Amino acid sequence: MSRERWSTGLGFILASIGSAVGIGNIWRFPYIVGTNGGGAFLIPYLISVFLFGLPLMMLELAVGRHLQTSVGPAFRAIGQRFFFAGIVLVVIVSLILSYYLVVSSWVLAYSLFFALQRPVDFDAFTGSYYPLVFFLLSGLIVFATVRSGVREGIERISRVVIPLLLLILLLLVVFSLAQPGAAEGVAFYLTPDFSLLGDPLVWAAAFGQAFFSLSVGMGILLTYGSYLERANLFRNATIIAVSDIAIAILAGLMIFPLVFAFNVDPAAGVNLAFVTLPSVFLSMQFGSVLGTLFFAMLFLAALTSAVSMLEVPVATVIDSYGYPRKRATLLVFGVIVLLGLPSALSYTGLRLELFGTPLFDLSDYVFGTLGLIFSGLIVSIVAGWFVDPEWLFAELGGTPRLQRAYLLLVRYCIPVVLFITLVARILGIPAG
Ligand code: PFF
Repeated sequence: MSRERWSTGLGFILASIGSAVGIGNIWRFPYIVGTNGGGAFLIPYLISVFLFGLPLMMLELAVGRHLQTSVGPAFRAIGQRFFFAGIVLVVIVSLILSYYLVVSSWVLAYSLFFALQRPVDFDAFTGSYYPLVFFLLSGLIVFATVRSGVREGIERISRVVIPLLLLILLLLVVFSLAQPGAAEGVAFYLTPDFSLLGDPLVWAAAFGQAFFSLSVGMGILLTYGSYLERANLFRNATIIAVSDIAIAILAGLMIFPLVFAFNVDPAAGVNLAFVTLPSVFLSMQFGSVLGTLFFAMLFLAALTSAVSMLEVPVATVIDSYGYPRKRATLLVFGVIVLLGLPSALSYTGLRLELFGTPLFDLSDYVFGTLGLIFSGLIVSIVAGWFVDPEWLFAELGGTPRLQRAYLLLVRYCIPVVLFITLVARILGIPAG
């Protein structure tokens, strides 16, 4: 059977932007900016994206494109002894997806509640069994997309979702900037406080957010790259990263004016999306339309990210065992639903907790934070050290000098930065 392919280069770029742009851009980025020095945060953030995120993204794309296979078999092709590391990566992505689907399902539920003009209290909602219904519903949408294939499913949905998401975002930005008091919010967001640049925690937050937001180090771009024939990887990776940054910055221009116009706390974390902003929308004219649009946009963003995560284990099952796509998707999806159920149910009357922490919060920390950094380490070490630089450079192009600098970055700088971030997070330092 011949390998599936993107129908065009643009289709691939949109699908990769879809993977990168997610909940991380729309609410995580603005509140991290808000709590880490406002506009000054953009300096460590841009450095992290271009110096670390982008080279790792190019590494993944090059490996996938060259080997023309997904994570498990690609790692085995790099060296028989790395097959297990590939499987660890696939398991981490699946675990992240299992709880990312829970957040996606909350967002889907909120967009429906706003559309029906039936606002809910966050604690009452998560304490009920509604989240289970929405967890299955959003999971089914992701499942149906991946089951339809690279071209008919992932590429097709990305072509619709990305332009639509941008349109809604621009509308919301214009509306937000038109609120009285908006200028104060923009000033808070963009006025740099350079004194914070000496704070290592601000830098750690920037690294964490850059890796999370670009979806690098998860094998997603490796898998997406394996459906490419020939491509200019440097140009493609730059377009993906710049689009991801642009959407995150725009999201801040929507959130801060609202937060300031309505005098609420910009650093409220999870509560910002599910408690603070809903209360702002409810007190505004056209609030139910705005609330519906905002949560629909978040859901679209989450959907294409979740699709890209599901594709990683599905592609590995297809490429390793020769399963047809439909059967592979069903099998993997079944496992992910089972893995996600404890997170989806953790705030209900069942009170699923471990060491006094709800399982959802624990998954967020163990898989979404530590797992994500750990998998980035695996990718940068296996692909950076054990791939033949000759074919890597043939994929990436560039001058010999640039190539040497690149190797230095992916072999030394990126693993060291990831390692330090991992240790900082384990010691409980809030880095991002
Ligand atoms: N990049 C996504 C976001 O910004 O929300 C999140 C994400 C997707 C993280 C896929 C990790 C991942 F594997």
